[in-house]
This record gives sequence, C-alpha cells and structure tokens, in this order.
Amino acid sequence: MKKCVWIILILLFLFPVPIVSESSKIHLENESTGSGSFECVDGGCSIRIEPSPTKGTVLNLQGNGNKVLVYIITTGRTQLEFLQKESERTDQRSYLADVNQGFLINCKAICNAHTGLPHYSFNREILDSHNCGPYLRYIGNEVVRIQQKRRVTVYGQRFTCQYHMVPFNSNISSETIYVISEASNTFDVFDGNNESYNKTGHIVSQSYWESVEFEQQYRGPNWSRDMKSIYAVTTKRSCVCQNQPVEVSNGQVIHIQSPGYPDFMCPSSQCEKHITFSKFNGSDEYIQRALVTLEARAKVETDFSLVSKNFDVRFNADMYSNVSTHFLLEPVDKVTHNTPLSLYNGPEGHFNMSIQSIQIRKDCDCSLFKQKKYERYEHKIKIKVPAQCELIFCHWTIGSGGYKEIIVKVDKVRENDEVHIWNRNITEKYNSTQLKQPRKLYSAVSVGDTFVFFRRNTSGVSQQNYPSFITVSWITQSNVPLTTTPQAFISPNYPKPYNFFGNCQTLLVAPDNYYIKLNVSDFDVEHIHDHLSFYDGNNTSSEFLLEQLTGTHQNLTFTSSGNMMTVDFFSDGSHGRRGYHFVALAVIISTPKSIEVAIPSMKENDSGKNGKPTPIMDQFPSDDSLIDPLWLSDSENSTTSKTSNLQRSCSKHGFFFYLFCALCAVFITIGTLFGGFVLYKKLNPRKTETSFANEMIRFRNDDTGSVVTIEN
Ligand SMILES: *[C@@H]1O[C@H](CO)[C@@H](O)[C@H](O)[C@H]1NC(C)=O
Ligand SMILES: *[C@@H]1O[C@H](CO)[C@@H](O)[C@H](O)[C@H]1NC(C)=O
Ligand SMILES: *[C@@H]1O[C@H](CO)[C@@H](O)[C@H](O)[C@H]1NC(C)=O
Ligand SMILES: *[C@@H]1O[C@H](CO)[C@@H](O)[C@H](O)[C@H]1NC(C)=O
Ligand SMILES: *[C@@H]1O[C@H](CO)[C@@H](O)[C@H](O)[C@H]1NC(C)=O
Ligand SMILES: *[C@@H]1O[C@H](CO)[C@@H](O)[C@H](O)[C@H]1NC(C)=O
Ligand SMILES: *[C@@H]1O[C@H](CO)[C@@H](O)[C@H](O)[C@H]1NC(C)=O
Ligand SMILES: *[C@@H]1O[C@H](CO)[C@@H](O)[C@H](O)[C@H]1NC(C)=O
Ligand SMILES: *[C@@H]1O[C@H](CO)[C@@H](O)[C@H](O)[C@H]1NC(C)=O
Ligand SMILES: *[C@@H]1O[C@H](CO)[C@@H](O)[C@H](O)[C@H]1NC(C)=O
Ligand SMILES: *[C@@H]1O[C@H](CO)[C@@H](O)[C@H](O)[C@H]1NC(C)=O
Ligand SMILES: *[C@@H]1O[C@H](CO)[C@@H](O)[C@H](O)[C@H]1NC(C)=O
Repeated sequence: MKKCVWIILILLFLFPVPIVSESSKIHLENESTGSGSFECVDGGCSIRIEPSPTKGTVLNLQGNGNKVLVYIITTGRTQLEFLQKESERTDQRSYLADVNQGFLINCKAICNAHTGLPHYSFNREILDSHNCGPYLRYIGNEVVRIQQKRRVTVYGQRFTCQYHMVPFNSNISSETIYVISEASNTFDVFDGNNESYNKTGHIVSQSYWESVEFEQQYRGPNWSRDMKSIYAVTTKRSCVCQNQPVEVSNGQVIHIQSPGYPDFMCPSSQCEKHITFSKFNGSDEYIQRALVTLEARAKVETDFSLVSKNFDVRFNADMYSNVSTHFLLEPVDKVTHNTPLSLYNGPEGHFNMSIQSIQIRKDCDCSLFKQKKYERYEHKIKIKVPAQCELIFCHWTIGSGGYKEIIVKVDKVRENDEVHIWNRNITEKYNSTQLKQPRKLYSAVSVGDTFVFFRRNTSGVSQQNYPSFITVSWITQSNVPLTTTPQAFISPNYPKPYNFFGNCQTLLVAPDNYYIKLNVSDFDVEHIHDHLSFYDGNNTSSEFLLEQLTGTHQNLTFTSSGNMMTVDFFSDGSHGRRGYHFVALAVIISTPKSIEVAIPSMKENDSGKNGKPTPIMDQFPSDDSLIDPLWLSDSENSTTSKTSNLQRSCSKHGFFFYLFCALCAVFITIGTLFGGFVLYKKLNPRKTETSFANEMIRFRNDDTGSVVTIEN
C-alpha cells in the first residue's frame, strides 16, 4: 500500500498534470498597461488584472465571437463580482474599474481558435471628469452618485456609460434600491429571484433587489445637457404610505409616521391619510379637540400638514428644525406629507405623530395652535388660567423676527405645568420646577415665527382654588446700520404728541473703525415717567449708560466709544408730549491729519428679512446739517408712513413691564448713587447682576371673571 503511494507521487513528479494553464496570466498592480490574447489549452485560461490602489483601470475586450466570463475583483473583498450579462456578450466592449478594483477574465474551454482568439488590453487611468464610470458600484445605505458629469473634448463624440449596481452587503438583498435620475432613464433591474425588469423613470425602485444595470449612449460635447446625475441608495425602510382611513373615537389615539421613518426620505412621496373623529357625545360643558403630539425634524422641501375644513397647519423648514411638542387643534380631517425628488438618508424630514381625540372643558379652552398670533411689536401676552382648569393648552404665535429676548413667567406654577418655545432656531422646554423662576431666552434676529405653548395637566393632583397667570413678553431690538450720511430718528407721531405705551430699543451700528456721533436736536417727553436712554455699545446694563434723558432738552451731543450705540425709548402711555428728534452718523476713528471719507452707504435692510427697517433714515434728505427738524413739514405724507413704521416697531407693554421698568429705574438710581460712592472710595465698580432668578415682581389680579382672558 505504502509503495503504491510512493510510485504515484514519483509519477506525478515526472509527468505533472497541467492544472494551471500556461496561458493564465497575472498583471500586477504596478503594471500601468498590458495586452494579450487568450491562448487556451485544454483547461481554459484566465487573465487577472490586479487592482491598483491609486488608479482606475480601463479594460477593452474583443470577444471575436467567444463568450468570456468577466468578474470584477475588489481589494478587501473575498467574493468576486460576476458580471452575468457582460459574460454573455461576444463583441467588443470596455469597462472601467474603480481604484482598488481589478478584473478576472476567464475563458474556460469555450474559447477556441477557430473564430479567432479573444483579445484584451488595459491601461491604468486617473479617474476624472473624462470618465463616467466606474462600472461596478456597491450600493449601501449612504446615497451615492452613480453617474459623474463627463467632459467631452471631441465634438459629436459618442460614448457609453455603463453601471452595474450590487448591494454593498451581499446580505441585504431584502432591502429596496432607489435609483433616481435627473432625466428619465431605463434600468435593467434584477430581483432576488433572478427576474429581470426594465424600469424607466426619474425614480426606479426594486425591493429584494440583486443587481441593477444601466447603459446609455451619449453624444458630446454637450454633456451639461446629456449627462444628468444618477443617485442610488438601498434601504430597509418602507415607503408605502399609511393611507388607509381611520376613525378616532373619544379618547383614542392614532399614530402616524412619515414614510421611510425614521431615517430614509422617500423620494417624491405624497401621502394623505384621512381621519374621522367619531361623533362627540360628551356633555355641553365639553368641547372636542385633537391633541397632537409631535416629534419632527425639518428638511428643506419636505413638509407635512394637518388639515381640516377650517385650517391647514403646514410644517416646513422655515418653521422648525427639531421639535418635540404638543398642541391642540379642532378635529383633524387629514394629514398629508410631501417630499422632493431626491434621496436622503438621515433623520431629517421625518415626523412621528400621535393624534388623540380629547375633550376639554369649554371654560378651559384657551387657544389652538396657530390660532392666536401676535406681532413682534406687541410685546406681551398675559393670560389668566382659571383655578378649576385641570387640563388646559394654550398656544401663541409671535410674529417673525426682531426680538432679542423672550421672557416667560408663570405665577402660581402647578405640578406638571410645561412651557415649550420653539422656532426655526430654538427648541426650549421648561418643566414646572424650572418655571418657578421666570425664564428668559435669547433669539436670533430672523428666525420666522416663534411658537409658545403652555400645558397644564393636573388631573388627579389635589385641587387649589387660585388662578395662575402666564406672562410672555418679548423685547424687540432693531438694528440700524449707520453711514457718514446723517440719519434722523423720531419718536412715534413726531412732532405730534406720541401715543405710545412701552419700550422700543434700537441698536445703531456703524462700520468697523467708526464711532457714532449723535445729536439730540429736540427733546420733550413727560418728565420722569418717560425717558430716552443712550448706551455705549450693544449692552443695556447700567454701566454702559451714557445718558438718560427726561423732560425737555435741546442740542445735546453724545458719542460712542465703539461702533455701536443702543437707544431705548420708554413711555408709560399717558401724557404723551412732542417726543424727540435726533440725528446720528458714523464718524471714522481717525489719526489727526486724516479727513473723513464718505463710506459707501450700507444696504438698507441689514437686519435680515424680518420686517421693516425701523426708523426713518431711508428717505431722509442727505444733507450735512445735523439738525433739521423742519424737514418733516415739507413731506407730510412720508412723515406719516415713517412714523407709523417706527411705531410698529415700538411696543406696548402691560402693567408688568411698566412696574418692572419703574423698579429698574429705582435700581439704576440706587446703583448710580452707590457707584458714585464706590468711585469716591476709588474702588472698582461692581458689575450689576441683572439675573431674572431673583425677580420679585407680583402681578396685580385685576381680572374678576373666571374665564381665560388675554390682555395686551
Ligand atoms: C512590479 O513589482 C514587482 C515586485 O512586486 C517587481 O518584481 C516588478 O519588477 C515591478 N514591475 C514594474 C514594471 O515596476
Ligand atoms: C449575513 O447574515 C447572517 C445571518 O443573517 C449573519 O450571521 C452574518 O453576519 C451577515 N453577514 C454580514 C456581512 O453582514
Ligand atoms: C440567474 O440566471 C442565469 C440564467 O439566466 C443563471 O446563469 C444564473 O446563475 C442565475 N443567477 C442566480 C444568482 O441565480
Ligand atoms: C429591456 O429588457 C430586455 C430583456 O428583458 C433587454 O434585452 C433590453 O435591452 C431592455 N431594454 C432596455 C432599453 O434596456
Ligand atoms: C448645450 O445645451 C444647452 C442647454 O442645456 C444649449 O443652450 C446649448 O446650445 C447646447 N450646446 C450645443 C453645442 O449643443
Ligand atoms: C356615547 O355615549 C354613550 C352613553 O352616554 C356611551 O355608552 C358611548 O360609549 C359614548 N360613545 C363615545 C364614542 O364616547
Ligand atoms: C433633535 O431632537 C432629538 C430628540 O428630541 C434629539 O435627540 C436630537 O439631539 C436633536 N437634534 C438636534 C440637532 O438638536
Ligand atoms: C440659528 O440659525 C442660524 C442660521 O440660520 C444657525 O447658524 C445657528 O446655528 C442656529 N442656532 C441654533 C441654536 O440652532
Ligand atoms: C425639570 O428639569 C430639570 C432640568 O432638566 C430637572 O433637573 C428636574 O428634575 C425636572 N423637574 C421635574 C419635575 O421634572
Ligand atoms: C454685542 O456685540 C458683540 C460684538 O459684536 C457680540 O459679541 C455680543 O454678543 C453682543 N452682545 C449682545 C448682548 O448682543
Ligand atoms: C449746539 O451746541 C453747540 C455746543 O455744544 C454749539 O456750538 C451750537 O451752536 C449749538 N447749536 C444750536 C443750534 O444751538
Ligand atoms: C398724501 O396722501 C394722500 C392720500 O394718500 C394724497 O391724496 C395726497 O395727495 C398726498 N400728499 C402729498 C403731498 O403727497
């Protein structure tokens, strides 16, 4: 037995079996070009072109009537990608392999010299805009651009772009591929059962996909017209709309999610879900409402709406960026959702919503979402929440832009009280613990509407029989760019008596390297009660106060140290007098010998799209004289419109703010006296803490009714 084995081994050594054909050949990664014919012996033959780590590989195959099996090798992958369709062909063709991709071409025994041997040639190329490949594209959960724009140098040149798309993970064939094209294209799609489909359109999708082929002939040089981008992605999410209508009975909750939730944006999806609220058979004391609980992330061009006969509440990227909130609506008829024709993988553009049919006591029906809108110059909302309201939802919208800070104060907070404030830029939530202190937040200038929501849900919590008050106030600050051309600023209605209640702040901004010079030509306000304050810079702490004017003045000049000055006008709303007129301009911070140079006038609306540029400078005659109050009389119409502009930007404050300002004035006075004392003692002045945490202001309860009232 042992002898036999030895004899076989010796025979094998002397006459080796030609398992590896002589004609099989390997081209290494450092070979930049190569070519040859398939010279097959009995066992067939193979050519292997190793992947290059830096360059793409262009392979040209001349079949000469033979079928050649074509595979693509990818560095780091154990499996070769077999190109079924390409292996059936016998003609001349070419492929472009990506960096780290190579080829294996196999002829087996089918190659024969009778028809002429297949021939191949390859060269390595830097992939650039001359190429529309590479041929093999692995598609995963990230959106990839399949088709690149191609540069064509020869007019009328024809070229073919071909792609073979396969799942990045061979495991994920249970996913759905989406291929979208800017121009309608035809794709050969193969599913998991090896069935082939021709699919045409801007969007092509296939569940349980195995591979997708695309081949298109283009003609140069107008690639910008011919070559439209093609993108692809695969996902395990479903893009089927949950469109079956539902009925919601009292107390019942339904859940609706955007298609592709939570992280695949279905392209060009339009869903519409119809909802019926069962007939409400509660008592007359109650009213039927839809309580919507929403979590959503915004994405440009994606929107959704809650619609009924009376409203269409649309959510889009102008309105929110990331919300997680509740609100009340009248019974909703349908929820719609739209997405653009593009592929996106990520949580943006999705919502998860529940809608519950609830009943609310009629005397606790505060305000529905988007029902009550306040303009930014109105400045304050105060409502009383009656003691008996266990469940109450209030929603207010503050008109777009311009406000600098928003303050929320809840007097007599109860357990579970909640306040949400959100807009395109902010998502704030305060619980009952946090609401024990007034909350103050800062807002960017142009952020669209801001939504403020209050919820009380004290069901089951011990009853208290005093009402609560909620105050939301906001301070508007408008930014006014200054130039070397003097600009005039007047009080509302000037020179007629101002009839203005509240507080109006304007930030004057000169260009860098300029300071602001300001001349008050005319000043007449109610002594003590009304005043105009000038602050050096954008900070309105008392330490930056340049001057606070009240009573009557004339011809006063102030200058800023830097390029900003804040002007704050306050009036208690009664005994309005003529008001003020001042002129401001930017002055260059100069060395003694340099001369003021006119700087180009700045864009009139520097503060963004958030409304009217406040004061009146736009039409102000550009003369060099600082003081010219008479200019008003010769253009009465424009004066009126300018004045009303100014008045719109100024605000009305309620009692709370008045009291607060009075207290502030007292504090400022005390602070100034103290400051003087401290200065006298040659100590460093202490910074004034203006924290709201210690605010001790109480509201006067001047409402007697038990219904919710809103007062401005
Ligand atoms: C390619 O590299 C191999 C070794 O890896 C070397 O033997 C061969 O000479 C190189 N060929 C060229 C063309 O540089
Ligand atoms: C493929 O799926 C199997 C079973 O589902 C799993 O065990 C394996 O890890 C998966 N392989 C890859 C590469 O994901
Ligand atoms: C698909 O069908 C072809 C014949 O049409 C066959 O050769 C090939 O092996 C099949 N592929 C798979 C994955 O079943
Ligand atoms: C459509 O599919 C058939 C095979 O199913 C294929 O031969 C043909 O080329 C396809 N047409 C296009 C335009 O891709
Ligand atoms: C290329 O296409 C653009 C429109 O996409 C067209 O205006 C232009 O005339 C075309 N140029 C040629 C050479 O066809
Ligand atoms: C309507 O009222 C009846 C009796 O008052 C009650 O049985 C039924 O559940 C109510 N239906 C709904 C939808 O609340
Ligand atoms: C959006 O909200 C979610 C949940 O409230 C949170 O996890 C996520 O971090 C937020 N994203 C951003 C960008 O604020
Ligand atoms: C507010 O909006 C601006 C521009 O729209 C953006 O740069 C900034 O990051 C936003 N801030 C927050 C807190 O979202
Ligand atoms: C309210 O929020 C704060 C901070 O997020 C947290 O520390 C506190 O426990 C919360 N209070 C309640 C009652 O949820
Ligand atoms: C004031 O202006 C400075 C510089 O432009 C800026 O950093 C700061 O945030 C501003 N402060 C306020 C309260 O707007
Ligand atoms: C304003 O005051 C300055 C000095 O402070 C003086 O030179 C100027 O003449 C005054 N102008 C008027 C119109 O009173
Ligand atoms: C002022 O406006 C009124 C109505 O808007 C118009 O009739 C009148 O002619 C205007 N006067 C001037 C001076 O433009």
